[in-house]
Amino acid sequence: MKILVTGGLGFIGSNFCRYIISKHPDYEVTNIDKVGIGANPANLKDLENEKRYKFIKGDIRDPEPINKTIKQVDAVVNIAAETHVDRSIADPTPFIQNNTIGTFTILEAIRKHNDKAKLVQVSTDEIYGEIHKGSFNENDMLKPSNPYSASKAAADMFVIAYHKTYSLNLAITRCTNNYGPYQIPEKLIPKTIIRALKNRPIPIYGTGQNVRDWIHVQDHCKAVDLVLRKGESGEIYNISAENEIPNIKIVRKILATLHKPEDLITFVEDRPGHDIRYSLDSSKIRSKLGWKPRFPFEKTLEQTVHWYVNSEWGWKPLATQRILHPTPWKLRDTH
Ligand SMILES: NC(=O)c1ccc[n+]([C@@H]2O[C@H](COP(=O)([O-])OP(=O)(O)OC[C@H]3O[C@@H](n4cnc5c(N)ncnc54)[C@H](O)[C@@H]3O)[C@@H](O)[C@H]2O)c1
Repeated sequence: MKILVTGGLGFIGSNFCRYIISKHPDYEVTNIDKVGIGANPANLKDLENEKRYKFIKGDIRDPEPINKTIKQVDAVVNIAAETHVDRSIADPTPFIQNNTIGTFTILEAIRKHNDKAKLVQVSTDEIYGEIHKGSFNENDMLKPSNPYSASKAAADMFVIAYHKTYSLNLAITRCTNNYGPYQIPEKLIPKTIIRALKNRPIPIYGTGQNVRDWIHVQDHCKAVDLVLRKGESGEIYNISAENEIPNIKIVRKILATLHKPEDLITFVEDRPGHDIRYSLDSSKIRSKLGWKPRFPFEKTLEQTVHWYVNSEWGWKPLATQRILHPTPWKLRDTH
């Protein structure tokens, strides 16, 4: 199988490219990434000399590289997106452009240039909005709370419409919060690790009681690979490892792993529209495709912390300067 992966220099994209190349010796991957905020070329340095891997610097909003590449592949896994909720509150425009119009450009490329290609749209639990009790299933209504999740929900709607209107082979995955190696240090887990190592204050929104459901990035990659190979056209698959944890507890676990004091934690003004809890029912992908998570949370969170401490991987300095703290939606850069 020849696969076009978009956003392959980011956190999930780089883990996914590596997963596919190592898992399927006969698969080829072309990665198109604009090298934007979440990207780090160092994430896939180990694939530089791999014959089955090719990188193209390009933007999914630009039909030229997308149209050209789509003619040469069997499938597309659309991972590219602007991903930071705080940035979307500060400036929603790039989110609509990259996440919604970018997905639309890919759908048009498939419709016009290769209507046999399968698309897996990598979406998120955030599009359902918050839930106080119980868990969302794939038929629940979308109620996004911020411009990021609204832009992702809009992209999902286009995917569903293109499947119905043009009978294209399209599937959607909606996953919970990922943790693991190669994530930009402006997201909660790597930010906490890196700031704790420098003995700098660790900002927590509100009281830190917001609950997120965590999954190891490798378990997410495995699920996307299954949907790519076995998922049914027109179907949506929720992905969750059922590790619901308040943000404050995650931060405390990381500090304990690093033997750092809890007084590094500083509570800051809450993010506007901050969802209190996310929770997904993932019984469909488990029963229909036989997926189940393999990475136990406690142990692999610790391994993730050690990875950031010990790995040779480095974050490019430009992006580090861009990390916004502590109330980034006001674009107050005090890092
Ligand atoms: N991180 C999570 O916990 C999580 C959970 C569920 C779903 N997702 C989804 O997974 C995807 C990847 O998330 P991530 O955390 O790896 O993000 P990331 O920010 O680490 O990486 C995103 C990548 O997409 C690239 N990109 C952005 N816009 C582009 C464009 N127009 N053209 C080409 N490349 C572009 C960036 O350069 C970057 O390399 C997103 O679609 C996100 O909605 C993420």
